[in-house]
Amino acid sequence: MNATTTGGPAPAAAAPQEPVITATIVPDEGRLESFVGKMVGDMAAAMSGSLVVTGAKLGLYKALAEGPATSAELAERTRLAERYVREWLSAQAASGYVDYDPDGGRFSMNAEQRMVFADESSPVFIAPAFEVIASAYIDEHKVTAAFRSGEGVGWHEHHECLFRGTERFFRTGYQAHLVQDWLPALDGVVDRLRAGATVADIGCGHGASTILLAQAFPNSRFVGFDYHHASIQRARQAAREAGNLANLRFEVTSAKEAPGSDYDLVACFDCLHDMGDPVGAARRIRDMLKPDGTFLLVEPYANDSLAENLNPIGRMYYSASTMICTPGSLAQEVGLALGAQAGEARLTEVLREGGFGRVRRATETPFNLILEARP
Ligand SMILES: C[S@@+](CC[C@H](N)C(=O)[O-])C[C@H]1O[C@@H](n2cnc3c(N)ncnc32)[C@H](O)[C@@H]1O
Repeated sequence: MNATTTGGPAPAAAAPQEPVITATIVPDEGRLESFVGKMVGDMAAAMSGSLVVTGAKLGLYKALAEGPATSAELAERTRLAERYVREWLSAQAASGYVDYDPDGGRFSMNAEQRMVFADESSPVFIAPAFEVIASAYIDEHKVTAAFRSGEGVGWHEHHECLFRGTERFFRTGYQAHLVQDWLPALDGVVDRLRAGATVADIGCGHGASTILLAQAFPNSRFVGFDYHHASIQRARQAAREAGNLANLRFEVTSAKEAPGSDYDLVACFDCLHDMGDPVGAARRIRDMLKPDGTFLLVEPYANDSLAENLNPIGRMYYSASTMICTPGSLAQEVGLALGAQAGEARLTEVLREGGFGRVRRATETPFNLILEARP
């Protein structure tokens, strides 16, 4: 504001300009040291992530989980080249992902390391997340170009390791929580599923959640919808591998075009924010439901403000959102770009705009918000 706009006295004749003194920013030595130390840790994590993908693909973690081994023994066990296995093991030990006994030169995995890297039934089997991370590096050039053009990068335009990694990483959470915790947190849904309900899983990807549901509730009928043709093909294959469940099918369609009505339950697992028009999708879901039906919305865990999300979970999700979810939404009609850290308040707004009268947080995990919406 100046004197004219405030109505104050006119300024005196301009005085000669004082030289502008630019404060020299002197780094604090201690803070610099700790920040560079943090960056070295981040660089090491970013570099070693590719080794997790390699180790999982080659079965190295599972083979080491069978028992302690030297590099030669693990190479023998996996029929891989010893020199590569030795370097990989050294990196794993430096990461703390495996233990190393310098006396015998043997590597091993403790119970916690096995749960994270080797045991697919564990609730913390998070090794496949590194395939999702790999896709962000592989497709980085597409997103960088999109920053300049403002256009989107569709889910389907990513490297296939994104689809595989998402299926396998997200399944860990669904296996641990969906039937045991999330469904019982919804009003009356488990009873209906036991008795025989009609259920749609929209944006089902490779169908990890749909298959788990169909296995748990044989009296109910399930359909998984996704706009991504290749994902639906993989979901059908996964269903065959699960024993050709008679109560399950998969169809290619976008959320807004999902067919049918009178569903007891419609679910969206970690995908509403990926859609260009989540309000339109919510409206369609509202129309698909019986008057007393339920919409189960599972989204990445987030608080309602950026300041509250400045933590490791927020860091991971904002990063994934920048590289995958936001470009994916911008590639579709409307392009609302909710982002993966929308939070309960914003998601509730979207659901209300879509016509849902009652929305509540049913439960949560460190990774997910679970909302129940009723017409
Ligand atoms: C992060 S993945 C989650 C997949 C799956 N629900 C899971 O939990 O494994 C997001 C999914 O949303 C799907 N998707 C994105 N936009 C969609 C739309 N408009 N209609 C239907 N599916 C959509 C993508 O193809 C992708 O499979």
